[in-house]
Amino acid sequence: MGGAISGSVRGYRVVLIAGDGIGPEVTGAAVPVLEAAAARFGCRLNLERHEAGAACYQRSGLAMSAETFAACRDADALLKGPVGLPGVRLPDGTEAGVLGGVLRNGLDLFANLRPIRLLDGVASPLAGRTSGSIDYAIVRENTEGLYAARGRGVATADAVADTMLITRRGCERVARFAFDLARAGSGAPRDGVRRVTCVDKANVLRGFAFFRAVVEAVSAEYPEVVFESRYADAAAQALVLEPDAFDVIVCENFLGDILSDLGGATVGGLGFCPSGNIGERGAYFEPIHGSAPGLAGSDRANPLATILAGAMLLDRLGEFDAAGAVRAATTSALRDGAVRVQRDGTLASGCRAAGETIARLI
Ligand code: IPM
Ligand code: MN
Repeated sequence: MGGAISGSVRGYRVVLIAGDGIGPEVTGAAVPVLEAAAARFGCRLNLERHEAGAACYQRSGLAMSAETFAACRDADALLKGPVGLPGVRLPDGTEAGVLGGVLRNGLDLFANLRPIRLLDGVASPLAGRTSGSIDYAIVRENTEGLYAARGRGVATADAVADTMLITRRGCERVARFAFDLARAGSGAPRDGVRRVTCVDKANVLRGFAFFRAVVEAVSAEYPEVVFESRYADAAAQALVLEPDAFDVIVCENFLGDILSDLGGATVGGLGFCPSGNIGERGAYFEPIHGSAPGLAGSDRANPLATILAGAMLLDRLGEFDAAGAVRAATTSALRDGAVRVQRDGTLASGCRAAGETIARLI
């Protein structure tokens, strides 16, 4: 990675996939924010817009063209809006236009990093929780697990089997990602302990027992990080009752998908939750929420998850000051009420205006 230097400005090739439903609105609000941050810190994001997703599938029969895939592969960074539309299905009945198989597996982006952070000025549905008391990251294995069966389940007219794939290499690399993250961070809010929690159902399935054993073996390489494991059902309970005990969670793909929505709810909703799909070389950044087609076109969607995904993208480019400025402006807009998210997760004051407000603060 690393952009070409033109004059004194660092330039980056950034692919933008707006997506379906509210995607164009939330990415549209994020662009001026990222441009303001880049301009302030002396870099330029050269945006290349590409289409992909469910509408693209409907039109062309492909969720993403080969040209777009190549552009994603070759870009310095990629920002993606949510995709998917109701009723747009593959012949096997699963959703068409989702890009997990194409981008996550296609680019081998094995770690799905999902920070769960309660921001200042945002109300948690959990009584008594204030900003700072929920601040952990879910590291979701992103290329195997149960979702490796995507498009491959074995079916008769009366029965279907989807197989969960767990490999040593897959576990090791996602475990190292989680331990590296914990080692670089400042620990759990409750006790400041740098901790990796392996979440699984090792008591029921052999695949999860293997996952846990491999993560535990990797933990020996990180004496400065405490390793623990929890069963997923108990972890779901603990994420509600004692979220401050968590620092970094590592888990299988399907469990991470479910638990990250649970975590998102505890910090005010998925509208605040960004994510990064990260591999050895490539990465892309997106909100964890869906395309909310019912809200599309109303200018009421919350763009903060996409804006914060943009901050993660800037971090990935090494533009740490710009990333910090995006986060600081977002927090300050929430704290002083310049951007106010309603209980139902929408913005009365407008999605576009939220982006403009945060860009101005930068
Ligand atoms: C997510 C989403 C996707 C997933 C869907 C849209 C396929 O829920 O990124 O969490 O299941 O991974
Ligand atoms: Mn999900």
